[in-house]
Formats: sequence, C-alpha cells, structure tokens
Amino acid sequence: MNTTLKTKRLTLRLLSLSDQDAMVDTIMSDMDVMYWLPYSDQVSTFEGQREVAYAIRKSMWGKGFVTEALTACLDWIFIKPEIFCVHAVTDNENTASQRVMEKLGMKHSKDVDLYDSVAKGEGLLPFYSIEREVYLGKNGTEVKN
Ligand SMILES: CC(C)(COP(=O)(O)OP(=O)(O)OC[C@H]1O[C@@H](n2cnc3c(N)ncnc32)[C@H](O)[C@@H]1OP(=O)(O)O)[C@@H](O)C(=O)NCCC(=O)NCCS
Repeated sequence: MNTTLKTKRLTLRLLSLSDQDAMVDTIMSDMDVMYWLPYSDQVSTFEGQREVAYAIRKSMWGKGFVTEALTACLDWIFIKPEIFCVHAVTDNENTASQRVMEKLGMKHSKDVDLYDSVAKGEGLLPFYSIEREVYLGKNGTEVKN
C-alpha cells in the first residue's frame, strides 16, 4: 500500500524502517499496550477476509484517534469491490477495542479459537466483522458492483 490516507487529524501511511525507534518507544516498550496485542508472527486468516489490527500510544487513548483512523481505512478498503468483508479479533476484556469496533458498525458475529487462545486458557475470542454492503450503506455510499 503506497496510499496515504488523510483524515481531519491524522495522516496514515505505510510504516518504514525509520519508524522503528518511535514504534519501540511508544508501543513496543509499553506493556499496557503490548498486553493486548498478539505476537508479530501471529496473523489470522479467515475465509480470505481482511483483518484490521490497531494500537496507539497510551497518551493518545480515548481521543477518538483509532476510530478516526479505522474509518478512513475501511472507506479505502471497501472501495475495492473484491473485498467483501473485514474482521477483527479482540480479547474478552478489551472493552475499548470492542467499543471501537462497535463505533465502526462491526458486529460481534462469533467467538474463535485464535492465537492458541483456548490452549493458553484464554478461551474463545470475540470475532467482529462487517460486510462491504453494510458498511457502505451505513455511510450513505452507493454500492456498485
Ligand atoms: C483499543 C485502542 C486501540 C483504542 O484506541 P482509541 O484511540 O483510544 O479509541 P477511540 O478513542 O477511538 O475509542 C475508544 C472507545 O472505547 C471507550 N473505552 C475506552 N476505555 C474503555 C474501557 N476501559 N471500558 C469501556 N470503554 C472504554 C472510549 O470511551 C471510546 O468510546 P466512546 O467514543 O463511545 O466514548 C487503544 O486503547 C489501544 O491502543 N489499546 C492497546 C492495544 C489494543 O488493545 N489494540 C487492539 C487489540 S484487538
């Protein structure tokens, strides 16, 4: 993705190696953030759908930034007619993440055994998803296939 997405407050772009130190300083060295994230080699795939995953530095929590960023991402993702559904998986206790998904219109559609969650004793994880037609309809966008 070479696309740059701009929102009212944010510029979203592909990460580069020069972001590494900032990522370590703001995300990877903060256990309150990392607690909720899977290990980097754990990527989920469900029926070829696309997954959104997200985190923001703790000092920025609760200001609406991730909802704003994901809205721009979903607007961009669903321009592509071949992408029919987007999903995200979170933890049962991660109410902030669940709230973000709800604000995007995503629905808790099932619970899944992911990232060895059952084997690790964490149980099934809430799986949220939204279909293209539902998202575009919610935003008043005409759907053309
Ligand atoms: C989850 C996370 C990405 C949310 O980012 P954010 O920019 O703070 O999200 P927003 O401000 O857009 O929205 C957060 C919503 O959750 C709500 N919320 C925050 N903490 C909450 C809590 N403990 N319980 C219930 N709701 C909570 C906020 O009030 C807000 O909802 P509102 O707009 O209706 O008031 C951020 O907290 C984070 O980086 N957490 C650590 C990493 C993580 O959990 N990633 C997701 C893994 S699935």
